[in-house]
Amino acid sequence: MCGIVGYVGYRDALVVVVDALRRMEYRGYDSAGVAILGESGVLAVERKAGRLANLEAELAESGTDRFVGTTGMGHTRWATHGAPTDRNAHPHRDITEKVAVVHNGIIENFVPLRKELEAAGVELLSDTDTEVAVHLVGLAYAAGPTAGDFVASALAVLRRLEGAFTLVFTHADHPDLIIAARRSTPLVVGVGEGEMFVASDVTAFIEHTREAVELGQDQAVVITANSYSVTDFDGNEVGGKTRPFTIDWDLAAAEKGGHDYFMLKEIEEQPAGVADTLIGHFTQDEAGGRIVLDEQRLADQELREFDKVFVVACGSSYHAGLLAKYAIEHWTRLPVEVELASEFRYRDPVLDRSTLVVAISQSGETADTLEAVRHAKEQKARVLAICNTNGAQIPRESDAVLYTRTGPEIGVASTKAFLAQVTANYLVGLALAQARGTKYPDEVAREFAELEAMPKLVERVLETGPQVRALARQLAHVPTVLFLGRHVGYPVALEGALKLKELAYMHAEGFAAGELKHGPIALIEDGLPVIVVMPSPKGRAVLHSKLLSNIREIQARGARTIVIAEEGDDTVRPFADDLIEIPSAPTLFQPLLSTVPLQIFAAEVAQARGYDVDKPRNLAKSVTVE
Ligand code: G6P
Repeated sequence: MCGIVGYVGYRDALVVVVDALRRMEYRGYDSAGVAILGESGVLAVERKAGRLANLEAELAESGTDRFVGTTGMGHTRWATHGAPTDRNAHPHRDITEKVAVVHNGIIENFVPLRKELEAAGVELLSDTDTEVAVHLVGLAYAAGPTAGDFVASALAVLRRLEGAFTLVFTHADHPDLIIAARRSTPLVVGVGEGEMFVASDVTAFIEHTREAVELGQDQAVVITANSYSVTDFDGNEVGGKTRPFTIDWDLAAAEKGGHDYFMLKEIEEQPAGVADTLIGHFTQDEAGGRIVLDEQRLADQELREFDKVFVVACGSSYHAGLLAKYAIEHWTRLPVEVELASEFRYRDPVLDRSTLVVAISQSGETADTLEAVRHAKEQKARVLAICNTNGAQIPRESDAVLYTRTGPEIGVASTKAFLAQVTANYLVGLALAQARGTKYPDEVAREFAELEAMPKLVERVLETGPQVRALARQLAHVPTVLFLGRHVGYPVALEGALKLKELAYMHAEGFAAGELKHGPIALIEDGLPVIVVMPSPKGRAVLHSKLLSNIREIQARGARTIVIAEEGDDTVRPFADDLIEIPSAPTLFQPLLSTVPLQIFAAEVAQARGYDVDKPRNLAKSVTVE
């Protein structure tokens, strides 16, 4: 949520910054802005409401002569405080127009700080929480103990701020450096040769360097073209506590690769995402082999001592969490509760040392999930993060981490990360079952082998694309679509409905099929499309036959039934107005297949309705505010 970048080097800073914003636009697209420090000591700023394209058009029209310089910064906004207008767009400047700031997060004590500034005669020009920070730095630089010292002025202000923030400051009189800082929102340093970057995520600078340094909580960094120096907010060096890493993917992974939208590329990357998430998590031994869970390794002894599991997450990650419950309970007989991270800590959940909390987050930044992790740790529970972003805050604060290795996910609506999370859940379930002895080693090995076979089956589901897209175009203008499922098909129905809502702005709801008769069936009317996720006929017969009855009930009331069923499931044919066939798979693993047509469906409906699939309105990829 909000993408920020800072650059000091030898290239044309405007080009570097705008390119970085383009790749980070998925983080927010309510406005975009740049500030470039010219050699003449002038700070040139342009900012525009709406997408980056608006800013680019403005720059093209007004000319870029003012923007010649090799130091600069930029921002792409997801609005929290203040409407998405030009005047609320970042960068913000102080009254001298020499200091500029970009910000991601929320400065929670901005109201008293604003009052203090107004009392000092400062006229604030925006409705944002951010603007206070730049005025405070300007004033600290103008007079008082830090006068004339830009870095000391910025640090003094950082010490006064409350909330969650990543901030980048520049000063027109100091074009050779940038100061950036973070608390609870992300900031990485990109270390190049003769150039340095600071950014919300590595996609901003992957084109220029793959060497990065992750900043810790309450750390600040001063970058120059040839150096970076990390301190705490008091200015003490924290060299040893930073985490350098090399990014193991390249620019191509962060580009669309011939697709119109990232999301379409990411849907196709799912077989690889599932396969890569499994790599290295199974080792052969005399007993047949064993699951290896994570890099820090939760000890088997610990896995044995847990007496309950909580899964916390938001959005699609929450739906992945719902699926974890079926697998973990079935394999381990441990009770599993799944909770929206935003609700978890407010209801005083019963947690102790013998509780395992699994926090699922693609970005590793989601504020609600992070707070849930912190709450769980305060209560002494052990936390395992399932995350797609190396070194993000949630894995950093967790006791253990299992990375989903599906590369950067840029489309705001989660697809490949979702499938990878579901896969990671199975690894957690199998590791628990293995440690607790609820499954024999050969059973664990068999389940793992079935999992390893899934990427090939996902590939085959992708072949349903043309059929699903044709159906989507037919239905692009209906007002409502309902989704039904039972057992693991129920979270899939929820995920299908969420995808359609967020991408196509269409009314969509997912229901547990058994709940139909308790209300939702009243919604059924002639021609209403209902997408039904059928369980495998080879799994539990009762599940299959119950769902079959549900389809008949809705068809009898006029619904248009669109059924996702296993190849060869002939019993369903007479009741399916449209049949989408997926390969046969073990019941628990079927969501890895049945979700895929629903993703394709939502993306195509959105395209047919003329919407931007990667950047649905009002949404952002990583939600760093509560
Ligand atoms: C946002 C995104 C969703 C995502 C959710 C949770 O709402 O648009 O795609 O599922 O956040 O994000 P996380 O990074 O924690 O998985």
